[in-house]
This record gives sequence, C-alpha cells and structure tokens, in this order.
Amino acid sequence: MRVILTGASGFLGRAVGKRLAEAGHELLVLGRRAPSWLRVGDGFHRWDAMDDAAPVEALEGTDAVVHLAGEPVAQRWTQAAKQRIQGSRVEGTRALVEAISRLKARPKVLVSASAIGYYGDRGDEVLTEDSSRGDGFLAEVCAAWEREASKAEELGLRVSRVRFGVVLGRDGGALAKMLPPFRAGLGGPIGRGRQWMSWIHMADAVGMLQFILETPEAKGAWNATAPMPVRNAEFSRALGGVLRRPAVFPAPPFVLGLVFGEMSTMLTGSQRVKPEAALKAGYRFEYAELEAALKDLLTTR
Ligand SMILES: NC(=O)c1ccc[n+]([C@@H]2O[C@H](COP(=O)([O-])OP(=O)(O)OC[C@H]3O[C@@H](n4cnc5c(N)ncnc54)[C@H](OP(=O)(O)O)[C@@H]3O)[C@@H](O)[C@H]2O)c1
Repeated sequence: MRVILTGASGFLGRAVGKRLAEAGHELLVLGRRAPSWLRVGDGFHRWDAMDDAAPVEALEGTDAVVHLAGEPVAQRWTQAAKQRIQGSRVEGTRALVEAISRLKARPKVLVSASAIGYYGDRGDEVLTEDSSRGDGFLAEVCAAWEREASKAEELGLRVSRVRFGVVLGRDGGALAKMLPPFRAGLGGPIGRGRQWMSWIHMADAVGMLQFILETPEAKGAWNATAPMPVRNAEFSRALGGVLRRPAVFPAPPFVLGLVFGEMSTMLTGSQRVKPEAALKAGYRFEYAELEAALKDLLTTR
C-alpha cells in the first residue's frame, strides 16, 4: 500500500515507519522535518499540524493514512503547552480529514492514534473499548481527537482509533524517563503504587498497528495495551528486579505535583485497560507479561 505517515520522527513513528517499510509498503511522510530513517524513494511533505492545511496534492493517490503526530504530553501543562497538545491533535486531525475530503481518489483507511488517557483516572475498574470516557484534560483531548478522526467515516474511510497505553521501548518514551533513578537504585513506586499501569511493548504497539492497518474489518476503537496490566508497585518491583537494583524509594505524589503540576495526574492516575478488540480479532501478543517485556528491552539488544 501507499501509506501516509504523520509523527514519523517520534518514538512510535520511527518504529512504525521501519516496520511498514520492511513489510513492503510505500511511505509518504507528512511532518515538520524529514525523519532520519527515510529511505530513498520514500516521500516527504512539510506539514505543521498546528498551522497548516494538510497538503491535498500529497495525499492524492494514497491507500492509507497512519496518523501519529502530536505535541509531547509529558511536559508541564502550561496554558501554551495545553494549546499545543490539544491543537496539534484536534485541529491537526481536522486539517488532515478536511484534506482527505477534497481528494479525487480517497485512501481507504485512516488509523489514528489516541491514548488510554481517554478513560481518565478509574481506580480498579476494568476498562474495555466500550467503557465510557473519563474526566480531565487528557480525556477531553483524546475524545475530541477521536471525534475528528471519526469524521473520515462519513467520507467512506474505514477509521480505527488506537488508544495506546504506556509504550515501553528502547531509546525513548516513559521507560527512558524512569531508567535513570532506577539504575541509580533510587527508583520506587509512585505514592502507594496501587494505581494500574497499562503498558505495551513497542513490538506489540507496532505489531497491533500493522495488524489493524492490514485487516480490512478492523475499525473503531482499539486498546493498544498488553493483556496483563499491573499496579505501579508491581511495575517498580519488576523494573528494579530486571535491573538488579533496589526499588524501594516511593515518589510522593505531592512532590510530583510540585515538579510537574497538573501533568502529574498522568503518573498518579489509574487505568486498568483490557485490549478486548485485539484479543477478539485474534491479534497475538509477542509480550503479554511485563517481566519478559522488560527483560527483552533492558537485557538484550
Ligand atoms: N509513547 C507512548 O507511550 C504513547 C502513549 C499513548 C499515546 N501516544 C500517542 O501516540 C502518538 C505518537 O507518540 P510518540 O511517543 O511517538 O510521540 P513523540 O515521540 O513525542 O513524537 C511525536 C511526533 O509528532 C510530531 N509532531 C508534534 N507536533 C507536530 C506538529 N505540530 N506538526 C506535525 N508533527 C508534529 C513530532 O514531529 P517533530 O519531529 O516535528 O517534533 C513527532 O514526529 C502521539 O500522538 C501520542 O500522544 C503515545
């Protein structure tokens, strides 16, 4: 397929781009800068999701759109940052769908990223794709982002909204931020560590996205999380265990609040997510268990 990819220079986009290229898809990247991994023969078109109408001429004649672009969420949520987080996703997706509406020949499928932040902070409740939306800034952004993506259904596209959990990979994402204190033996749970963490190994984040892209019946919401989420305390123990370091120093939520402001709700909130759509569709996880996932990422190359 000829696939448009946004967010291609990011943590997830780099891995997705490589996987789709290996699978034989032809890639056309839309973004503020060409990713370093771009191959000869892949296309690149400049697009800033905050400011620009998406380039209609670039989208003409493509089969699929994989849309991952978005301002990083793991930063202090100042008013300006919130505007970028929201604008790059909501207005960016609107611009993309608007450009698709003006094409002579439209792509058949839009696979658009979302996040389990959609569900808000939900304690021990088991969350499937049918669960209701939660409260808070991220939940609002995710819901508006998904609404914009879903508008492509009216244009005849198959639309999949992929709610990623905490993606664990090499060279980036949440794990790269957690590793320094844990490697120094200063890691530990956040607060009492009772909040659920719904994680996914990068191999499955990419694998599930490819599965959704290439499965003609795959549409609607998908939770991209491993089938066995863990409590934060268990996550800390597993990470300390794999690194062979103590992980007994809890990070008090009020300190995180002082350092990160409202964004700390992302670290203290609880989401016990089940990837029901993927399991029903027969997606086979490479890493269903946390310890195996961490061992792969931290002890092998
Ligand atoms: N990683 C996770 O654990 C996780 C979890 C849940 C959801 N997600 C979602 O999955 C998507 C990809 O995540 P990621 O971890 O790969 O994020 P990332 O590493 O921060 O990458 C973000 C990508 O979006 C692009 N981007 C940002 N603002 C843009 C704009 N105004 N116009 C055009 N491109 C823009 C960036 O391009 P530049 O190179 O130009 O900055 C980069 O390629 C995001 O939407 C994220 O919210 C990720």
